[in-house]
Amino acid sequence: MPKHAERFKTLPEYPLATIPQRKRALLERGVDVIDLGAGDADLAPPPSVFQALSNAAHKPAMNRYGFGLGYVPFREAVSAWMEKRFGFRANPMTEIVPLLGSKEGISHLALAYAEPDTYTIIPEPGYNAYQGGTLFAGAKPYRYALRPRTNFLIDLDEIPRDVLERTRILYLNYPNNPTAAIAPMDYLERVVARCRERDILLVYDNAYSELAYDGYVPPSIFEIEGAKDVAIEFHSLSKTYNMTGWRCGWAVANPAICSTLAKIKSFVDTGQFMAIQAAGVAALQDSAEFVPRNVAIFRERRDAAVRAFRDAGFLCDIPRATMYLWLRLPEDVPSAVFAERLLEDEGVVIMPGSSFGTGGEGFFRISFITSPERIAEAARRAGKVLANLTAGVA
Ligand SMILES: Cc1ncc(COP(=O)(O)O)c(C=O)c1O
Repeated sequence: MPKHAERFKTLPEYPLATIPQRKRALLERGVDVIDLGAGDADLAPPPSVFQALSNAAHKPAMNRYGFGLGYVPFREAVSAWMEKRFGFRANPMTEIVPLLGSKEGISHLALAYAEPDTYTIIPEPGYNAYQGGTLFAGAKPYRYALRPRTNFLIDLDEIPRDVLERTRILYLNYPNNPTAAIAPMDYLERVVARCRERDILLVYDNAYSELAYDGYVPPSIFEIEGAKDVAIEFHSLSKTYNMTGWRCGWAVANPAICSTLAKIKSFVDTGQFMAIQAAGVAALQDSAEFVPRNVAIFRERRDAAVRAFRDAGFLCDIPRATMYLWLRLPEDVPSAVFAERLLEDEGVVIMPGSSFGTGGEGFFRISFITSPERIAEAARRAGKVLANLTAGVA
């Protein structure tokens, strides 16, 4: 057997890696599966993206390598959108990096900034690309447990000094997956100041910037004074436009950080399919019309999910952003056991808190990505499994 590298051995199982196969097996057994696992809605993208994709795909030039430059109108559309949405002007050519989905950029970036004997600070529970990138780079993840105690914020004052001294990257993601927490501006100001003091790269993952409710408007990190010296912000078409499968996102940062990421990528990929970037232009240009209607659908689903899961006996806050509920479990019910029973006995996919790291234990995540009726049915089944587990039946 060819020998694995030590670095490979450090990778845990990816939480969603086996779910599609498990789901398929259940469906083959005739089970009525309800999938509230991945953050991947059953809704359609803006209609304009299909025409834009088709028009572009018919042009031979658009079928050639995009290279790092990609389709320049995409860079321009991203820049215009960033300015309109956050009042932040990013130079389309030097301060934007097109990505094959934001996950790709997030995980590759660590290769340029982290190395053995250095740390990255990662939220736990948190999106797994942060630890993936860190482990690929041979660096050490310092896992900070996001718990209600700090409103699911990373308090840098609690991180040991010797770790901070050797920290290269801090990963922040607000609105947060999986806890749905949001970050106050004064918190972001403090974090930016600390990263500037210590020359720590602040990776601000803003994948959920457009999925917010009840008047909350998530900020860009670049709304914070001085952030441009140390921060890179990641965005994605995935969640905002129901385009997870298209694999299209971008990073925004100062020219030095952008060219660093672009250099890494030039050895890894040869650019996004430019017809997809052309579709991205259409999506971004449709924002004003499409996003509010899409958010209204998610808000209805959120309300249905909160109602149904609370009625089924679970505790959760009402999220002001994202497509997730972060639900508490009783102390004596391990989240992995709950998730396994719910999947095997009732055909419902949810994410156990422990799949995001031990800091996520005591909770589970549902994605409100399907109709209110299906969410209510999933909640009813989840309540049944919880009742069985707490009664010691299962
Ligand atoms: C916090 C967070 N960041 C980034 C992503 C990646 O999005 P994509 O690679 O589809 O752009 C996700 C997807 O679930 C996410 O939850």
